[in-house]
Amino acid sequence: MTTTDRVVIFDTTLRDGEQCPGATMTFEEKLEVAALLDRMGVDIIEAGFPIASNGDFEAVAEIARRTRNAVVAGLARAIPADIARCGEAVRFAQRPRIHTFVSTSPIHLQHQMRKTEEQVLEIIAATVAQARNLVDNVEWSAMDATRTGHEYLARAVETAIKAGATTINLPDTVGYATPDEYRAMFVAMRERVPGADKVTFSTHCHDDLGLAVANSLAGLAGGARQIECTVNGIGERAGNAALEEVVMALKTRRDAMPYETGVESTLLTRASRLVSAATSFPVQYNKAIVGKNAFAHESGIHQDGMLKNNETYEIMTPASVGVTKTSLVMGKHSGRAAFKDKLKALGYELGENALQDAFARFKDLADRKKHVYDEDIEALVDNQIGASDDRIKVLSLTVIAGTLGPQQATLTLDIDDVHTTVQASGNGPVDAIFNAIRRVVPHEANLALFQVHAVTEGTDAQAEVSVRLEEGDKTVTARVADPDTLVAAAKAYVAALNKLAAKRQKLNPQAAISA
Ligand code: KIV
Ligand code: ZN
Repeated sequence: MTTTDRVVIFDTTLRDGEQCPGATMTFEEKLEVAALLDRMGVDIIEAGFPIASNGDFEAVAEIARRTRNAVVAGLARAIPADIARCGEAVRFAQRPRIHTFVSTSPIHLQHQMRKTEEQVLEIIAATVAQARNLVDNVEWSAMDATRTGHEYLARAVETAIKAGATTINLPDTVGYATPDEYRAMFVAMRERVPGADKVTFSTHCHDDLGLAVANSLAGLAGGARQIECTVNGIGERAGNAALEEVVMALKTRRDAMPYETGVESTLLTRASRLVSAATSFPVQYNKAIVGKNAFAHESGIHQDGMLKNNETYEIMTPASVGVTKTSLVMGKHSGRAAFKDKLKALGYELGENALQDAFARFKDLADRKKHVYDEDIEALVDNQIGASDDRIKVLSLTVIAGTLGPQQATLTLDIDDVHTTVQASGNGPVDAIFNAIRRVVPHEANLALFQVHAVTEGTDAQAEVSVRLEEGDKTVTARVADPDTLVAAAKAYVAALNKLAAKRQKLNPQAAISA
């Protein structure tokens, strides 16, 4: 194997992933995700879009300051102010990158940009040169590359290389290409463009036709050596190529695809759970690599085979992606040291204060629930990221439910240290609780999703409730677990309101808690 067989993993969970409706992460959540990506050996972390808002700028700058190993990239349109702002944010990184992009396809040039091909080439030359004056590491992307003719695409790539780009990304922005077409585009660019051998080519595939991972791997066959992807495949519309699928496909099928990545695969499950908790986007049960059922064998024939030899139906081991055998190991007699060990086995590294906090919540849970499973502990830690900054907290809740309606909720909220108690009734207990919350915190947001699922099995399982709120063009999702489904519902609604308040405040620092 030669050094050219090393594939650079460029993670864009915090940019393309966070960009999709409802996947917004708080500042704290972004820092947690970036720290884990760095720890697991991702080569490049695209931390955000600094010009988008002060909040995005701060997150990129802080990730740049904290990241130890990975290159930290920020995204910028082909606009001088964007590039300058991006340069300011990433300059704190040990290894900064500016990633700038412009559309190249006829349909984008004509309808979106209203520019000629020649004008776009001038923009590429000027903006890439501007970025290169700020940092040595510049990535240029040809947006909608897969719907751009090879002849013009080659001229655009050549212009970017001449202006100083060190990585050339050719995205399948609309998820339209087939693997053969995608591979052929890289072959053509590497053959035609002078200086192509001096830069790294990159894939960036969207999953509209379910081909994002296949296309990314086809890109490698065409000579690309960087893959842009996201944890759990989150991203615009149908999402991006899933990082865990790319990494495990390359690891499991080294015989067919002789490339390696620097990603520690045993942290993939941890990363999936963290991103799912931070975005409150559930992972589908049958999701490759990280879905709940990815290693479950249900049919009798499969189980029989597995008992005789794992390799009959298992192409990779659960342990290789960080799935530890789930067993009921913790209870109310478990001490702090055992709890710390358990967290470590599950892939968590908590600071002293966070550990103390998590242990207190674990004890509380163990008092209410006889068996505390790994999933309970994960829910307990993941749901808590950034919660200390919340301005609204649920202090107490009493609900009268049952066949004799109307159902009633008595709720006490703490808002910026002021306690308010209200009563409300509703068409069912959840409606009563949400009406009570609306009474204390008036708002116009629309409840777009209310979902409950059990964290583990058994009637004493914790309920994990997801709530999505939409207010104008702002969408937030929050997820909270509690042994009491109604308490989880109240806390999830309040957590979503906190996220909405944080989002409003990011756009307008004077914004009030209610709208
Ligand atoms: O899909 C896309 O084209 C992008 C670019 C900004 C790289 O996300
Ligand atoms: Zn994209």
